[in-house]
Amino acid sequence: MKFTDKIILGDCEKVLQDFPDNCIDLIFTSPPYADQRSKTYGGIKPDHYVEWFLPKTAQFFRVLKPTGTFILNIKERVVDGERHTYVIDLISKAREQGWLWTEEFIWHKKNSYPGKWPNRFRDNWERLIQFNKDKNFAMYQEAVMVPVGSWAKERLAKLSETDKIRDESRAGSGFGKNVSNWIGRDMVYPTNVIHMATETGNKNHSAVFPLDLPEWFIKLFTKPGDVVLDPFVGSGTTALAAIELGRNFVGIDINSEYVTLSRERIKESQPRLPSIAEKKAKYIVTKNGKHRKTGKK
Ligand SMILES: C[S@@+](CC[C@H](N)C(=O)[O-])C[C@H]1O[C@@H](n2cnc3c(N)ncnc32)[C@H](O)[C@@H]1O
Repeated sequence: MKFTDKIILGDCEKVLQDFPDNCIDLIFTSPPYADQRSKTYGGIKPDHYVEWFLPKTAQFFRVLKPTGTFILNIKERVVDGERHTYVIDLISKAREQGWLWTEEFIWHKKNSYPGKWPNRFRDNWERLIQFNKDKNFAMYQEAVMVPVGSWAKERLAKLSETDKIRDESRAGSGFGKNVSNWIGRDMVYPTNVIHMATETGNKNHSAVFPLDLPEWFIKLFTKPGDVVLDPFVGSGTTALAAIELGRNFVGIDINSEYVTLSRERIKESQPRLPSIAEKKAKYIVTKNGKHRKTGKK
């Protein structure tokens, strides 16, 4: 059975049972949030979220290639005045399934409007949790390089003595740096904080993320021709991003209206020309947590 380049109607947990082991390069998804928007697509109670999710992550683990990555866009909601722990609990249980909790990215929503709440400020960011099956995962860092900012240019013009040697992180993160390595460079690697506006256009789905978000992760963790899965595809944004970047895709949604919407959205889409940064991307697989270059793609 050819399983790629399709939007499939069904429960991802069941649909994926027909997929072979180790066939997906990237899983990128935003699952239904606990108990939110229950009128729209059936919320799951926060206390039951982890038990609902774990059989699905077990399938994700089986279908993901050992070099693949699973990115989970999720945020814990406030229940009874405090943040619920279902995301932390999920990370913990996923680790028991064999997942490595490799990294977390923050999506800073650039275009939030102001608001006032009695005991907290506007929620202006979401987490994207990176899970892997193995420390040796595919990563194409050059594909997401960014122009060096004017602040960094000024900072690089006035270097101190410690900037010229490798300075171990004071916070003990293990991220030592030698700032002088970056003098004269136009393009630098981004941080794990992603600044992107939220999707404002009405896509007839209440929880659409911007196209730029899956695009960024698809460029970082896959190469053209790889397979990207979104098991909760909604309006089809991840599939659209995959097509535009010349990757294969699989989208699954339990709601037939969203499946129709996704299929409509991707109908006219085509691969676009790769950017210079994407063309320069090298095939890099981490070896025991360290990067190893294995030639240009
Ligand atoms: C947060 S939305 C995804 C939105 C999507 N990222 C977009 O840009 O449109 C979550 C989606 O998961 C779907 N869903 C809920 N339970 C599911 C299940 N068990 N299997 C597949 N899809 C499911 C819902 O119908 C909903 O469209």
